[in-house]
Amino acid sequence: MSEKPDLLLAGEVPDWDRAPLAEDFTLHAVPSIADLAELSEEVRTRLKAVAVMGHTPFGAERMALLPSLALIANYGVGYDAIDIAAARERGIAVTNTPDVLTDDVADLAVGMWLARARDIVGAEAWVRSNSWQREGAYPLQHRASSRKAGILGLGRIGRAIAARMAAFGMDIAYFSRGPKDAPAAWRFEADPVALADWADVLVVAVAGGPATVGIVSAEVIGALGPADMLVNISRGSTVDEEALIAALSTGRLGQAALDVFASEPDLDARFLALPNVLLQPHQASGTVETRKAMGQLMRDNITAFFAGRPLLTPV
Ligand code: 8YV
Repeated sequence: MSEKPDLLLAGEVPDWDRAPLAEDFTLHAVPSIADLAELSEEVRTRLKAVAVMGHTPFGAERMALLPSLALIANYGVGYDAIDIAAARERGIAVTNTPDVLTDDVADLAVGMWLARARDIVGAEAWVRSNSWQREGAYPLQHRASSRKAGILGLGRIGRAIAARMAAFGMDIAYFSRGPKDAPAAWRFEADPVALADWADVLVVAVAGGPATVGIVSAEVIGALGPADMLVNISRGSTVDEEALIAALSTGRLGQAALDVFASEPDLDARFLALPNVLLQPHQASGTVETRKAMGQLMRDNITAFFAGRPLLTPV
């Protein structure tokens, strides 16, 4: 009988991932990467690969508890929780799950934009509470489409959002580190403040991580106006939430639609009291189809690693 390789599983994965992983590997599971102390030193020393789900910081100190570690397979496209520099220093490879989630994340971004702009959630409550019969038609909203969309970050997801919004008749401009090979009608804007100033809706689609912390600064938020909207499906860390809450509470910024928060899931309670914000529980990639594809890609990377084949989606 051949020995199955050991695999550390950090975080809660669905059964459709856990079962095939258990089939191929001897699993050592911990609730999160913060719980490595639950493993014996002997096991920690043996582990060469870890599958990580969740957003708990995974830095040099935690990596040091795994002296043989050579692969971190991240369940997610965003790897901002992993200290990539520390991993590189140790020669630890990192993989993520790009592409397979792009469409679902873009769908949710567009859905959030339309839902907030037309107050679909408030209007539904109007129907359910019988206010339609008692009080009449729902208050008029403002047109969402045929306006100006600023896309902050034109990676895979930003592009997919831009293409969808263009189909709604939106003018598109984008910020990224430099001009990208993109449809001629999509204008490059080198300055996030200028992009926000121009846009009616600013969609945050940059990757999280040290380079983009606070990129949606007080100045960027200040460049949006009372008729404008901020949509965020990226990371809470990209936004100055103090400035955002202040602008939304005073009406200096009209609306926001947010799937991610700096301290999620314990988001700043002041968001809950704001009627002009659509709140989502970091669910942009949360479809059965996408989560299965993410799990498969993560597992394929782990299998490739143990077989000595090239990794499919190294970071
Ligand atoms: C999460 C995400 O990974 O891919 C990303 O970067 O933020 C999400 O898809 C997913 O919620 C699992 O934590």
